[in-house]
Amino acid sequence: MDKRKIILDCDPGHDDAVAIMLAGKNEKLDVQGITVVAGNQTLDNTTRNALNVVQCLGLDIPVYAGCGQPMVREKRNAGDIHGKSGLDGPVFEALTRTLEKKHAVEFIIRTLMDSDGDITMVTTGPMTNLAMAMRMEPRIIEKIHEIVLMGGAFANGNTTPSAEFNIFADAEAAYVCFNSGRPITMVGLDVTRKALCYPSIVERMSRVGNVASKLFADLMAHFCKAQKEVYGWEGGPLHDPVTIAYLIDPTVIQTKFVNAQIEIRSEQSYGRTNCDMFQYMQLKPTAHVAYEIDVQKFWNIIEEGIRSYS
Ligand code: RIB
Ligand code: CA
Repeated sequence: MDKRKIILDCDPGHDDAVAIMLAGKNEKLDVQGITVVAGNQTLDNTTRNALNVVQCLGLDIPVYAGCGQPMVREKRNAGDIHGKSGLDGPVFEALTRTLEKKHAVEFIIRTLMDSDGDITMVTTGPMTNLAMAMRMEPRIIEKIHEIVLMGGAFANGNTTPSAEFNIFADAEAAYVCFNSGRPITMVGLDVTRKALCYPSIVERMSRVGNVASKLFADLMAHFCKAQKEVYGWEGGPLHDPVTIAYLIDPTVIQTKFVNAQIEIRSEQSYGRTNCDMFQYMQLKPTAHVAYEIDVQKFWNIIEEGIRSYS
């Protein structure tokens, strides 16, 4: 069976780290590279975190540093959830893995231009790297097989009442990507907020007893504590890995093909993903927006992913 080629663009981030873990050894996926962007924390932090995760898990996947700030707006991070390092909690061995020399945007352009149009772009942070690649080399756009993003929400946001963090952190970049004309699958808060990592889930994954289960438990210890302090939840929503779970088994989510627009001009609703779930505006559908998740199937995929490191 042909593996699905992906580039994982992320801002580790605890949930990004689990997305890397889930994709890293899955036999259905061929991770061409991990490209890193500023988001949850500064680029220095998110790149170091990505290197620590791939080194800890023994993944032979190249890591590329990308954009350190959004295309237009001022930088914004999510230190309240992910901590000063962006990956507070786990203690890693001395870091020996190094970044690739090429800039992430250049890697995305080169890889897509050299491809047969069979590469899926997965973004689990602000979409700056992908948008900049589209602007620098528009010929890559038709080469993108699909864009699968964690971002947005057709209901409430998590950074402002209307906006989710990944979109809010660079709405102009999301606007570029959502208007690229390529197939988009939007995995938003509407489903990821149902993937709550309760203590029972952490115990279940810890029992696997390998390097991935230990990292998972160490990551969730901080992530869930922070989510409880900020949002009062007993379990932290494991946003980013839902994108990878969808690539492994598309039936884990249900989507609706609707018109989805990114708000970039409003003061109050900047970064809003306006998803016309009931086609009020009768506009052309542009994105497959997730509205339901099979939570049990999701956690089974996570456990299988962790077991793949034994
Ligand atoms: O809103 C959730 C998203 O913002 C996740 O990708 C998390 O890692 C943060 O980047
Ligand atoms: Ca992220």
